[in-house]
This record gives sequence, structure tokens and C-alpha cells, in this order.
Amino acid sequence: MPLHIDVLTLFPRMLDGFLVESILGKGIESGLLTVKVHDVRDWATSKHKNADDRPFGGGAGMVMKPEPVFAAIEQLQTPGCRRIYLTPDGTPYSQKIAGELAQETHLILLSGHYEGIDQRIREKVIDQEISIGDYVLTNGTLPAAVVIDALARLIPGVLGEEKSLTHESFTGKLLDFPQYTRPAEFRGMSVPDVLLSGDHAKIEEWRNAQRIEKTRLVRPDLLK
Ligand SMILES: C[S@@+](CC[C@H](N)C(=O)[O-])C[C@H]1O[C@@H](n2cnc3c(N)ncnc32)[C@H](O)[C@@H]1O
Repeated sequence: MPLHIDVLTLFPRMLDGFLVESILGKGIESGLLTVKVHDVRDWATSKHKNADDRPFGGGAGMVMKPEPVFAAIEQLQTPGCRRIYLTPDGTPYSQKIAGELAQETHLILLSGHYEGIDQRIREKVIDQEISIGDYVLTNGTLPAAVVIDALARLIPGVLGEEKSLTHESFTGKLLDFPQYTRPAEFRGMSVPDVLLSGDHAKIEEWRNAQRIEKTRLVRPDLLK
């Protein structure tokens, strides 16, 4: 079943290039994935199409209003679809979550802006909250792109060569091994001899040792 994703944002054009380039563009072309980007203001009913207002209780900034977001989600949702809000206080995104989302048939990704969104949206029309890392961005459109990019690679058929996923970082407990390509000698730096040996067992052994060493140095938490 192909996966359809609706993105709700106040900055739809931020995703223009992202959706046509590279592997993601290929997935979309092949019909395995469809992505539709919507402007939340299209559901705003006020004269100036306002999608935000001042926070109750005071404080700086603006908050996205519930009416247009409820209306958008209620119009777009289908039975069984997963409605996701991108937010720094959500569950950290991971390869595991990307794999789960790649098996869905319909996702709605809501990008927040300003100070965030009215809490009632989160309580009533959101099923899952995802953060892309411990830092705060100006809005959730790039996080939506990050979520889509990582899951799109895991949809069978989107990546040309399926086996390119097997050694990847975060697929198992180890990070990836170092890669080299031609030329074998570049500015006095040579490719490790073992990679030129043609001995596949030795190459596998070397790569595995590199993966363990790199993980131990950079991400010892993954080995626990
Ligand atoms: C300036 S942020 C709001 C931050 C919020 N006041 C807080 O401190 O948690 C505006 C919007 O950007 C998005 N955003 C910012 N950082 C993010 C992150 N690390 N992961 C996912 N979404 C993020 C969210 O959609 C959020 O509603």
C-alpha cells in the first residue's frame, strides 16, 4: 500500500525543493509515497486569515489557534491515519520510529510555529508527538521534512539498492564503517590495503572492527 502524507504548516513553500529532489523525489515519482503540503491559513475563517493569537495568561509571542487546525485535521483525516505534531518536547525521533511510520498508509504531520500550538489541539486531534532533537527551531516544517526523509528511505522500493540499509547506523547496535572510493591514492592518503585485497572475509572483519571502535568512541551508549 502506498503511503500518503499530509503536511500542515504556515510555510508550505519551505518544502518545495525538498519534495522534488533526490531519493524522496524518486519515491514520489514512483507512486510509493505521496506528499501534500497544506497552508493552515486555508482553514482560517477570520477576515485576515489569522492562524495565531496572543497567549492567555500573558507572555511573549503568539500561539497557533485551535479552530483552523481542528478544521484542517478533521477534513484531512481518514480512519486509522496517524496524526503527528512536531515539537521539541515530543518523543525523540529514531530509526525505529521511522520504520514504524514507513508501514502506515496515511500520516498527518502538523508543524507548529511561534510559541507553539493551543494545548487543546494536542489533547484532542494528535496521536503522537515527535521531536527531532534537543534544540528549538523557529517552526516545525523542517522537522516534518526530516521525519519524511528518514521514513521514505525505509519504504521498500524507494531506495534503489535495498541492501544499502543493512549496515547503517542505528539499524543495529553499531554505527556504520568508514567508506572509500577511487582514487586509491589521494594527496598522499591511501585507502586501507584490506579494502583493495579482494578478500571478502577479511574486509567484513575489518569493517566490523571499525564499526565497534567508532561506536565505542562516539556512542558508547548504543553498546549497553
Ligand atoms: C519556537 S518552537 C516552540 C517551542 C516551544 N515553546 C517549546 O519551548 O517547547 C515553534 C515550533 O517549532 C517546531 N519545533 C521547534 N523545534 C523542534 C524540534 N526540535 N523538533 C520538532 N519540532 C520542533 C514545533 O512545531 C514548535 O511548535
